[in-house]
Amino acid sequence: MTKTAQGRASGKIILMGEHAVVYGKPAIALPFAGVEVQTTVTETCGDLSVNCALYDGLVHEIPKVYESLKHAIRFSLYRLGVSQNPPIHVEITSTIPAERGMGSSAAVAVSVARALFAFYEKELTDQELWEIAQSSERIAHGNPSGVDVTTISREKPVYYVKDQPFEVLSLDFPAYLVVADTGRIGHTLEAVQHVADWIEVENQGSASLSFSPQGHIEALGQLVIESQQALADKNVTSLGQLMNRAQTYLVDLGVSDPQLDHLITVARQAGALGAKLTGGGRGGCMIALVADRQQAEKLMQALETAGAKGIWIQYLGLEGEDK
Ligand code: MEV
Repeated sequence: MTKTAQGRASGKIILMGEHAVVYGKPAIALPFAGVEVQTTVTETCGDLSVNCALYDGLVHEIPKVYESLKHAIRFSLYRLGVSQNPPIHVEITSTIPAERGMGSSAAVAVSVARALFAFYEKELTDQELWEIAQSSERIAHGNPSGVDVTTISREKPVYYVKDQPFEVLSLDFPAYLVVADTGRIGHTLEAVQHVADWIEVENQGSASLSFSPQGHIEALGQLVIESQQALADKNVTSLGQLMNRAQTYLVDLGVSDPQLDHLITVARQAGALGAKLTGGGRGGCMIALVADRQQAEKLMQALETAGAKGIWIQYLGLEGEDK
């Protein structure tokens, strides 16, 4: 029988703290089971090959733009101590829209590493998985904070601060997130660089700034701390307000865009208690908070009419208690 093995990973949602997390502020993120990547590794008689939505061919011929995928495969093989060109085929299928702030690149790396380790029947430690996926993310996104890889590889809601041990959050919050995709490719690397440029301008003492970028980063970090409290207090109204406030800072920092702003406005008009972009921004997805499923379904309709290209609902309460 042909030898085969599988690995999977879900997407992620950053509830609060994107961008500020790059500067050592906290972020709250959760795995998003509504979308996932499946990787299947199969024995073949040819050279190491891969098939995914973006590429079909030999791994050593992967074009530069998909270098992070090549790295995830090569680095996993290196850690496994096997040849860099084994006779295997790596098949990747994904329902995570690529580059929309849902952690697609991190999820691909995690699922690839899991599938390869399963194929070679070697234990994959949490630390090893994190290192493989994070080094692949460095190629995709420059200087990632690690929040995506941590959330996706650990499959738990987390309170995350860069370079510190993360805290698992036991989410038991009586509310729903509606996640909507603008359909526009997000530009995380560009957005992160844009924020860095603002900070650089501020550091050089430019008088032309109408706000303090570093002040906004601080404020975003503070909103995350308050959000953690709102989650603990089960205060849905408060969390919604904090999300709205975060969005105003993210807009100032230049990481939102007209489509995101439009869907966020529509969500608020349709009754969302709060709405903001999620992930890198400049395209990608937004999230909106509502208290019950009926509201969530109403919001889905409104967002669909407003042109959202994909819409999902994520319950924030305990698993199995979705009402
Ligand atoms: C991307 O999902 C989140 C950002 O904060 C970047 C990062 O944390 O590396 C924008």
